[in-house]
Amino acid sequence: MVETVITGTGLFTPEDSISNAELVRSLTEATETWNAEHASQIEEGTLLARQPPVEEFIFKASGIKSRFVMNKEGVLDPTRLRPILETRSEDQLSIQAEMTLPAIQEALTQAGHNPEDVDAIIVGASNIQRAYPAVAIEIQEAIGAGGWAYDMNVACSSATFSIQAAVDALKSGSANCVLVINPEITSAHNNFELRDFHFIFGDACTVTVLERAIDAVASEQWAVLGTKLATKFSNNIRNDFGFINSSEIDQRDPHEIVFRQSGQRVFKEVCPMVSAHIRDHLQTLELEPAEIRRFWLHQANLKMNQLIAKGVLGRVPDTTEAPVILDTYANTSSAGSIIAFHKNRTDLDLGEKGVICSFGAGYSVGSIVVEKTTG
Ligand code: COA
Repeated sequence: MVETVITGTGLFTPEDSISNAELVRSLTEATETWNAEHASQIEEGTLLARQPPVEEFIFKASGIKSRFVMNKEGVLDPTRLRPILETRSEDQLSIQAEMTLPAIQEALTQAGHNPEDVDAIIVGASNIQRAYPAVAIEIQEAIGAGGWAYDMNVACSSATFSIQAAVDALKSGSANCVLVINPEITSAHNNFELRDFHFIFGDACTVTVLERAIDAVASEQWAVLGTKLATKFSNNIRNDFGFINSSEIDQRDPHEIVFRQSGQRVFKEVCPMVSAHIRDHLQTLELEPAEIRRFWLHQANLKMNQLIAKGVLGRVPDTTEAPVILDTYANTSSAGSIIAFHKNRTDLDLGEKGVICSFGAGYSVGSIVVEKTTG
C-alpha cells in the first residue's frame, strides 16, 4: 500500500483582531440606528425590532473571545458592518491568493521543499472570491509550481475533503507533492448585522503539504492512516449567494446571500453525526478511541467539540486531548481543524495517533486519522 504523509503545515493569521466587546459596541450602535429608522413599521407591527447583542452571551454560548479579520475598520463601522477590501485589477494578485503565500512558505519550509517541487494545488474554502479562473491556478502561477490546480468548496469541511482528494491523487500517482490550501475570508460572507451571527466567524489561511512517504524529507512526518467523508443534505446552514442571484425573478433578502443557520438544530443534529462518524472510522482502522491521543476538531463551538469528543471517548476531553483555538480565532471555517493541528502537535511522541475532523454545511463531515512517524 502507498503510504501518504503530511510533511508540513502553514498558517496565515491577519494582523487585525476584534474582541467581543468591540464587536458588540459596533452592532449595538447599528441596531439602535436601524430600529430608529424603522420605528413606524415596528410600531405598526409589520417589522420586529432588532435586539442588541450581549457581550457575555457570546463567550458563554460559543467559547469565542475574539477573531482575526482581514479588515477591522470596515467590520466595526456601524454604517458598514463588513470589511473594506480593495478592488484589484487583473494584473494584481487577488487577495485570496495573496493571503496564502506566507502560509505556503511556512508549510514548504517544514516539508523541506521548494515551490517548484509542488505539482498539485487544491484550494478548499467556504467561499472562493470569483467563479474563474481558479484561485488555485493563480497561486500555482504565483509560486512557480507545476502540474495542476483547482478550487473546491465543501464549506467548513473543505480542508478534510481536499486532504482526501490529495491522498487519492498521491495513491493513484496523479501527483507527487500536493498543497491543500484553505484561505478563508469569512468576514466577507458573515452577517455582522444580526446578533445571532455577528460573533461567529474569523479569517485565516492554512496550508498542508502531502506527499508519498518514500519521497518525504521532512524532519516531522505524519502518516495518513485513513480518510473518511460523509454528507447529508440540510438547509440548516445555508448561503444563497451565487451567480443566479441577478437573474432570479424575486430579489432575495440580503440576509439570504450571506451565512445563516439554525444554530440549535445544527448543534443537535451534527454532534451525534460527527461522534458516530469518528467511531466508525476508528473501527474500520481497528483502532480504539483510547488509542487516540488528540482530536483536532473543527472550531465552531466549544460545547459542540466537548460533546463530540465525549461521544467518542465516553467522557469530556481536556484541552490537551481536544485543543481549542476558537477562543482567539472564532470559527475560521475549513481552516479551523488545521489551525488546531498546526499549533498543537509537536508534543506527541512517535507512534501516537490523532484525528483531524471537520464538520459543517451540507451537512458534511470529514475525518483524517494520522500517526506521527518521524520527528
Ligand atoms: N447576544 C445576545 N443574545 C443573543 C446573541 C448575542 N450575540 N446571539 C443570539 N442571541 C439570542 C438569540 O436571539 C436567542 O434569543 P431568543 O430566545 O429571544 O430568540 C437566544 O440568544 C438563544 O439563541 P440560540 O441561537 O438558541 O443560542 P445557542 O445557545 O444555541 O447558541 C450558537 C448559538 C450559534 C452559538 C450555537 O447554536 C452553535 O454554536 N451552534 C452550532 C452551529 C455552528 O456554530 N455552526 C457554524 C458552522 S459549522
